[in-house]
Amino acid sequence: MTDPRPKVTPSMPNPIGLISMQVARPFTAEHFGWFERIRAMGYDFIELLVPEPGVGLSSLVVAAVSAAGALGSFGHAYTAPDAMRAEAAAARARTELPFNLNLFTAPVPSEPPAEAQRAAVAALRPLLEEHGLPVPERVPPPYAPDLAPQLEAICDLKPAVCTIHLGELSPAALSRIRGLGIRLGSAATSVREARHLEGLGADFIIAQGGEAGGHRGTFLGPWEHAMTGTLALVRQIVRAVRVPVVAAGGIMDGAGIAAALRLGATAAQMGTAFVGCPESSADQGYRAALASDAANHTSMVRAISGRPARCLANRFTALSASIEPTSIPEYPIAYDAGKALHAAAKAKGEFGYGAQWAGQGAPLARTLPAAELVVQLRSELQQAHAQRR
Ligand SMILES: Cc1cc2nc3c(=O)[nH]c(=O)nc-3n(C[C@H](O)[C@H](O)[C@H](O)COP(=O)(O)O)c2cc1C
Repeated sequence: MTDPRPKVTPSMPNPIGLISMQVARPFTAEHFGWFERIRAMGYDFIELLVPEPGVGLSSLVVAAVSAAGALGSFGHAYTAPDAMRAEAAAARARTELPFNLNLFTAPVPSEPPAEAQRAAVAALRPLLEEHGLPVPERVPPPYAPDLAPQLEAICDLKPAVCTIHLGELSPAALSRIRGLGIRLGSAATSVREARHLEGLGADFIIAQGGEAGGHRGTFLGPWEHAMTGTLALVRQIVRAVRVPVVAAGGIMDGAGIAAALRLGATAAQMGTAFVGCPESSADQGYRAALASDAANHTSMVRAISGRPARCLANRFTALSASIEPTSIPEYPIAYDAGKALHAAAKAKGEFGYGAQWAGQGAPLARTLPAAELVVQLRSELQQAHAQRR
């Protein structure tokens, strides 16, 4: 399969992106519902997983939450195809229940010109030096895994569900995946995007409201014009498309899931709710921030990864206010540097440069094990339904 994304050329200088370091496996994440079978199996919500690095634990957690009644997901945005295959095999050894494989389809830029790289790195030089990081001359691509082999792995593995974030797939790629019986869901942050994805053939739309934690999925137009809240966005998208809609953003408990279902959503997708689970790969700084006043002050930040994402208030979000927007490299170049900076700072006990993604529901986050949280959510959902009667 050829790369189905549009080719892009770098339009921005590349400050932080000069460091290309795979410091840690990024957050694994995601979840949601897949309709006919999911609803028939009684799944009203999907969860997002942030497991520890390493094949094995994530499959264990996915299997456990699926058994508890959610659709477990593997966030494979940065996972190599071999690891995707190993994770799926490990999950299938543990459960026959369906799971979701999630990919990012954001365009990956080619290497910015050397001059732009030099100019850009100047913006971060003091921080890099403070934390003992080398200030490199250039960082050659690749900046992210190649999407085409990841899609080949999806086609080989044939998960029940595949979800796409941060962009779109070509009609050919989409129809190949769907032709294999895989349900394809895609995130939309506006009615325009939802209609576009439905037109391409998506099986369902994930309506990502402005409250949502993590990366903003916007791919048509400026993200600042696509910040509609979950309540309004879900209702609008439900009325605009014929395919099922999954609500995402700020949903933290059974009452929230019930509200989303009442708006016409088929299921709910939850991310932040699972960050505090012991299985999540959130480090102690992330967990402490989630439990602190920072949870009341999430903000959209582009400097951490090169794409807008909602994050807990920390040193990086504060710093981003002083970074010239045009000097932020494109996603995912900036992300490499952000992770390198975080790792170096963390080694010195400074946790404030982490990509501490969280939505506006963060103050409601719990610390239960993932499967227990799913059981709890189901019980709260039943209560919410019962109270309505
Ligand atoms: C820590 C974290 C990691 C996330 N990673 C992914 C991801 O890998 N893939 C994806 O499609 N969405 C990801 N998301 C976004 C979720 O899919 C979803 O839109 C969001 O979590 C919903 O809002 P909530 O965080 O308020 O529940 C992530 C969100 C968070 C908080």
